[in-house]
Amino acid sequence: MKKQQQLNIPNEHLELFRTIGKVADSLGQPVYVVGGYVRDYYLGRLDADAIADIDFVTVGSGIKLARKVAKQLGTTNLSVFKRFGTAQIKHDDLDLEFVGARKESYRQDSRKPTVDDGTLEDDQLRRDLTINALSWSLNEDSFGVLHDPFHGIKDLQDKRIRTPIDPEKTFEDDPLRMMRAVRFATQLKFEIDGETFKAIQKMAHRLSIISKERITEELNKIVLSPTPSDGFALLLKTGLLKEFFPEMVNLQGVDVRNGQKHKDNFWHTLEVLDNVAKVSDDLWLRWAAIMHDIAKPPTKRFSKSAGWTFHGHDALGAKWTPKIFRRLGLPLDDRMKYVKKLVRLHLRPIALVSDEVSDSAVRRLIYEAGDDIDDLMKLCRADITSKNEWRVKKYRRNFDRVEEKIESVEEKDKMRNWKNPISGEEIMEVFGVKPGPLVGKVKDEIKEAILEGDIPNTYEAAYDYLMKLKEKYSTN
Ligand code: CTP
Repeated sequence: MKKQQQLNIPNEHLELFRTIGKVADSLGQPVYVVGGYVRDYYLGRLDADAIADIDFVTVGSGIKLARKVAKQLGTTNLSVFKRFGTAQIKHDDLDLEFVGARKESYRQDSRKPTVDDGTLEDDQLRRDLTINALSWSLNEDSFGVLHDPFHGIKDLQDKRIRTPIDPEKTFEDDPLRMMRAVRFATQLKFEIDGETFKAIQKMAHRLSIISKERITEELNKIVLSPTPSDGFALLLKTGLLKEFFPEMVNLQGVDVRNGQKHKDNFWHTLEVLDNVAKVSDDLWLRWAAIMHDIAKPPTKRFSKSAGWTFHGHDALGAKWTPKIFRRLGLPLDDRMKYVKKLVRLHLRPIALVSDEVSDSAVRRLIYEAGDDIDDLMKLCRADITSKNEWRVKKYRRNFDRVEEKIESVEEKDKMRNWKNPISGEEIMEVFGVKPGPLVGKVKDEIKEAILEGDIPNTYEAAYDYLMKLKEKYSTN
């Protein structure tokens, strides 16, 4: 008889689990809670407010059990997926997922596996990782008993990512699990076990059968981890990264000419990403860090006078952004445009370091970055990486000066989210013209005059200037 244990979980979950256990008892079915919930409990990271779904497995019909549980909970919010033998109840912000334990068996007349009813252990061995194959019994006479046939608890203690059975078989069943292995290793700061790692290297190409959306969902969880570079390093070493993001793999490598070498842009990008991760949880700012140097390889040149240069990698990287986002199944809306903008502008702030930089250059940057100027500054500060600490310090000091400059110009000229003080209607009225190219041209000239600092950023000054333009255009 295995040991029953006191579960230190929120009361509402305890009640729910007891209810499910009792309903299962009435059907004569063993039932277990399995997967992420149990794993996170032992990791001490069970966050009652963050839990979205709980997985239950039963020996017998998951659908029958779910129907009866829904009735007992007094809810009609039940979805049944007959083809998969699963059912889902939505209850108090939770998705309760029910499945019957299954096993695969091979019939003599067919090489295709068929899925039959199985035991709890049959179900556990078909799961992705040992740490995700832990379960607790919920039936009354065995409530809280832990079932851990693949030593998941030991792996949690040893911080190890490992598949319950032969990893090649586990990954063959669902190649996305290779991404999940990397994702959990990154989130939890665990190591991938040798055999499991080798199997990923061998089978990385199988990722090709997985939809981009599923891959990207895992990728984004890696990007949002505390130290995302750990995940990207694993994706590179396992060979997974080249399956869906070859441009990033191409950032690798160092060339030496005339004794001069450039940074390895892959590892530099990861350093920037980690730096951004320290100051922001925003997924898209993190994506801007991933993308900021993405177009360095095709723009790389060497000249004796200038050494290594990557002219235009900012513009080309911005151009690539929609293409890469589309391929990865990332959104193509304002979030993509934000990343594209930051990639395009990422060299601009540091170019403002020198003393002679005019206010107009600063005004232009504030105007172009709009509301995203603070994020752009975060990205650029994160972009200062060097092995030489003294150099980093010097650059950061210079950067402080740029920030001060931006602040003072902003205060003076109120350029953030700048809107032209003169509207198109007003131009049409003053000029006595209908809508047409002239209106845009005049508006642009007013904007240029303000950005250049020829006139102050006020309505009165802009109106006077408009009158001058009227004169200019009517005598021409
Ligand atoms: N699972 C699996 N293979 C997959 C996906 C999931 O074996 N490709 C199993 C694992 O046992 C997992 C459970 O299904 O624990 C639930 O999956 P999911 O809800 O996606 O993940 P969680 O483990 O709950 O973790 P997280 O919430 O962090 O995604």
